[in-house]
Amino acid sequence: AIGKSTNITWHKSSVEKLDRQELLKQKGCAIWITGLSGSGKSTLACALSRGLHSRGKLSYVLDGDNIRHGLNSDLSFQAEDRAENIRRIGEVAKLFADSGIICIASLISPYRIDRDACRSLLPEGDFIEVYLDVPLEVCESRDPKGLYKLARAGKIKGFTGIDDPYEPPLKCEIVLQQKGKDVLPLCEMVETVISYLEEKGFLQ
Ligand code: PPS
Repeated sequence: AIGKSTNITWHKSSVEKLDRQELLKQKGCAIWITGLSGSGKSTLACALSRGLHSRGKLSYVLDGDNIRHGLNSDLSFQAEDRAENIRRIGEVAKLFADSGIICIASLISPYRIDRDACRSLLPEGDFIEVYLDVPLEVCESRDPKGLYKLARAGKIKGFTGIDDPYEPPLKCEIVLQQKGKDVLPLCEMVETVISYLEEKGFLQ
């Protein structure tokens, strides 16, 4: 679907991003949470959204699993469909960020090239990649949806971390690394991200 639209014109809005920023007293951005299935992306996204809400800041979660129920329900887990899933969520996150909302995208997004493409959609500094670095063994031992078990039994093909790749970020804004088997406290992770947003002037 890329590059097939012709004879189109860009219409400038009469209300600018800066106007919305002033109105909302915050700066829109995309917080991109990446990590293996079962690493806690959705849990972190929800807690972060709640934390921002309680500080009077407007956020919205785009969760991979949820978006696959609607906008992306036509996409499989093959590499090119995952890439399209990530591209679409990147484009939606860009719109949310432009609207002034703190958009929290939580999806595996296993390929570096796709995450980098999303990064390049947003103004410099407005794409905040958060790597939820939880070892595969830990994710597999949690197995909240029983999917790792099915993947090990060969009942799901191309499962991330089992027979499909996950490429960790080489360089990203925030790494939330689990040390050994100790789970990083959720509130600590939320605080780390909120402190980053404060420091970079997104929360005004
Ligand atoms: S991706 O790779 O970014 O397009 O994936 P995403 O949109 O985040 O969807 C991941 C959730 O889909 C379920 N699921 C799978 N995950 C990985 N590999 C395969 N083959 C697969 N099939 C289904 C799984 O519940 C993922 O949810 P999370 O929340 O990550 O555990």
